[in-house]
Amino acid sequence: MERCDLLARYSAEAGRLTRPYGTAALRAAQETVAGWMRDAGMTVRRDAIGNLIGRYAAENGRPQTAAQTRTFLLGSHLDTVRDAGKYDGMLGVLVAIACVERLHERGERLPFATEVVAFADEEGLRFHTAYLGSAAFAGTLDPATLAARDDAGITLAEAVRAFGGDPTAIAGDRRDPGDLLGYCEVHIEQGPILETLGLPVGVVAAIAGQTRIAVQFSGEAGHAGTVPMALRRDALCAASAFVLAVEAAARSRDGTVATVGQITAEPGAGNVVPGRVRLSLDVRHIEDTVRAAVCRQLRARAERIGTARRVAVDWQVVAEADAMACDADLTGVLAGAVAQTGWPVHRLASGAGHDAVELSAIVPGAMLFVRCAGGVSHNPAEAVTTADVAVAIEVMDRFIALIATSATAGTGQLDA
Ligand code: GLV
Ligand code: MN
Ligand code: MN
Repeated sequence: MERCDLLARYSAEAGRLTRPYGTAALRAAQETVAGWMRDAGMTVRRDAIGNLIGRYAAENGRPQTAAQTRTFLLGSHLDTVRDAGKYDGMLGVLVAIACVERLHERGERLPFATEVVAFADEEGLRFHTAYLGSAAFAGTLDPATLAARDDAGITLAEAVRAFGGDPTAIAGDRRDPGDLLGYCEVHIEQGPILETLGLPVGVVAAIAGQTRIAVQFSGEAGHAGTVPMALRRDALCAASAFVLAVEAAARSRDGTVATVGQITAEPGAGNVVPGRVRLSLDVRHIEDTVRAAVCRQLRARAERIGTARRVAVDWQVVAEADAMACDADLTGVLAGAVAQTGWPVHRLASGAGHDAVELSAIVPGAMLFVRCAGGVSHNPAEAVTTADVAVAIEVMDRFIALIATSATAGTGQLDA
């Protein structure tokens, strides 16, 4: 908990926690976390995009089963949204380090290596994407994304270099699925279900898919005092109609959430009719077909609004991730670990995206949610209790022990 407080001080903005990819604040947070990884007996490296990876070596001796040459992954992310809380991402990294620290203190080695990965970008704040760090790690990052620009016009390739990485080597960040046993991520729930049920932790069954779209409305800037209302091509009025259409579309389809979270109007003066508006659109659903249908419907709606108002519409899908079902076997082991602590096992879906989504391309994944106050997240009021975090560490400690037993026995899915 003290470490969460400490990491919250590394921010790119004064007075609030904002830690996008590639910033000095993220670099400083990584250096601190790297120190904690080393203290827990890990060797530490950064990959080409800048994910921080701590490795706790396997037990010595001749491998007796396939699992003994492989690696089990734990982790989450260290980047944040703007004006973030202290736990989204960081808690998962720190719980993972705490688990390895326990092994180290007991002088215990596992029949496989354990890596704690602190992903460098999950939120996508800077490049309006999601999962840049975990996508590089999973080999799913489209090389064209390196040309994406942040709001200051800096490309991802330039940002990677400035962050001490190497954009030309990102293909090499991809981990070989044959080397990996599994991935398990601890994260705050970011929703109210565990609190409502009175449970400290829950087991994630599936993660909703998401589409992020950059929409631009281009009309004509003009004088606020002289251009008659009937002759205006006001981009902000078109965008406003669209924003409300987004809300209505999501409300009319059960389980859909859609958000316009960012909007800029240009030229941006009180006495000028807005000529151009850019906005972000984030659409999510646990069923990919529903999400795709909502996106199609919203695009058609934007175009109808544009035609009626003589405003051009540009629609760019900047990121897309399908819904992901957690791995049944690994999730079963995680549920067994929860049961061992005496707490009821509750399975729930995640509306928030997680690094586990990208990792599912290369490794079976499971996730443990920790109750958070009021279900509040992406907000500085994010809060968890020390007692709940202790349960999460206990569950993960038991989970790792169960995986180790199965690997040693050389039986079951995990050793396949
Ligand atoms: C990450 O927090 C996301 O779901 O946007
Ligand atoms: Mn988040
Ligand atoms: Mn997160």
